[in-house]
Amino acid sequence: MTDQAASASKLEARVSQLRCIGCGAVRESEATNVRCAQCGDLLEVVYPGWETSAGMRAAGLDASGLKELWRQRRTSYDALDESGVWRFREVLPALSDWNHVITLREGNTPVYELPGCGRAAGVQQLYAKHQGMNPTGSFKDTGMTAAASFAREGGFRWVACASTGNTSASMAAYAARAGMRSLVLIPQGQITWGKLSQALDYGAVTCQLKTDFDGCMRVLDEVAQRMPVYLLNSVNPYRLEGQKTAAVELLERFEWRAPDHVIVPGGNLGNSSALGKAFLEMKDLGLISALPKLSVIQAEGANALVRTMCETGGKKLISVHAETMATAIRIGSPASWKKAVRVLEATGGTVEQVSEVEIALAKAEIGADGIGCEPASAVTLAGLKKLVKRGFVKKNESVVLILTGNLLKDPDFTLKFHRGDLFAGTAQEEEAESVLTPRQHAPMVLDASANTVVKVLQHAERAEP
Ligand code: F0G
Repeated sequence: MTDQAASASKLEARVSQLRCIGCGAVRESEATNVRCAQCGDLLEVVYPGWETSAGMRAAGLDASGLKELWRQRRTSYDALDESGVWRFREVLPALSDWNHVITLREGNTPVYELPGCGRAAGVQQLYAKHQGMNPTGSFKDTGMTAAASFAREGGFRWVACASTGNTSASMAAYAARAGMRSLVLIPQGQITWGKLSQALDYGAVTCQLKTDFDGCMRVLDEVAQRMPVYLLNSVNPYRLEGQKTAAVELLERFEWRAPDHVIVPGGNLGNSSALGKAFLEMKDLGLISALPKLSVIQAEGANALVRTMCETGGKKLISVHAETMATAIRIGSPASWKKAVRVLEATGGTVEQVSEVEIALAKAEIGADGIGCEPASAVTLAGLKKLVKRGFVKKNESVVLILTGNLLKDPDFTLKFHRGDLFAGTAQEEEAESVLTPRQHAPMVLDASANTVVKVLQHAERAEP
């Protein structure tokens, strides 16, 4: 085969298609409609060339070759290689022109050991992959670089999303980088100021709707049918392809031996679906030999997936009226529930729900390990404690928590926590006081005198366990 013919066949083998998860209808990738034209269900990206070993060879998808290529790219200053998403472009849908990629050098996020949290949960090997260390402070950037690049390639002038805050911050940033306009629909009074201020700074047209997240989604669906805007919510299949790379990075960090458990917060369920898809694909491609169990944790007040699994065995979505202080996951009718059920079943994972007090305690424990995260991410640790008690996670197994958002995304929650105000006037006030007080470090207002500060220091020294 000539060089030209070989690279043409490589490209062909790498071509992706969009397949409906409901009726299975397939069409070639294109960045227009994010739902199936026939039945309205969600689409997913599939790679037909991967289905045969000849196809995989033609696409250059040899496991050890890929590992080496991805490792080498870490020393490159090429924008695509510097991105922790596009560094793995062999397992992503290809753009017709790589110059369309919009990157903020997302991904490449750290994996930290969590010794204090490990003790609290009762496991010996506990790690956090901190997706809150992405450019806009959340995991959304890894998906946004992919989907926004496809929007640019599709020639869209407007991109749009409904959001609990992080998606809007991320989308607005990527749109601004490419000179696209962005429309953000957020539930009024239900997203944090930090996230809202990001969308404003990046120039989004920001509408605070008098409804919840699920209501914003409904309005957006209608807007997208009437106006030429490209939807960048996680129903967008390209978003999930980008978000897959966090799992690939994680496996690379563990030298291609999967941890026993990966634990993810669940909201609209795009992230768990994406990570699960990646683990399954990495196994199919021979990059790992065993899958991690992927489990999803939700807040008790926004527990649609937990109820769906427990009450219908994952067959029928049970929507709920969502209520939680972890505003990022205040979602009652998760769009990607079918995809999430599939990866839970395929990896042997489970679901769990956690209370508001459990979330607040876990967040403080993650902070005390010198890491920190936003409340929605802390459900992972709170959930892990319950999975250990249930015996689902054994104490000698390795566990990775996916921390999805940065501590600075929601300073209000943290301040109220340390001032002891978080549960004031609620039914959980008493419980919160007994469980959370030892973790609180309220700021002190003092006279500007060294004597006073020295006294505080001496008192703190004596009080330390
Ligand atoms: N953690 C954080 C910090 C989030 O912002 C979200 C979702 C999730 C977890 C849940 O991820 O939806 O993929 O299951 N935030 C979306 C948003 C909905 O609009 O920012 P999921």
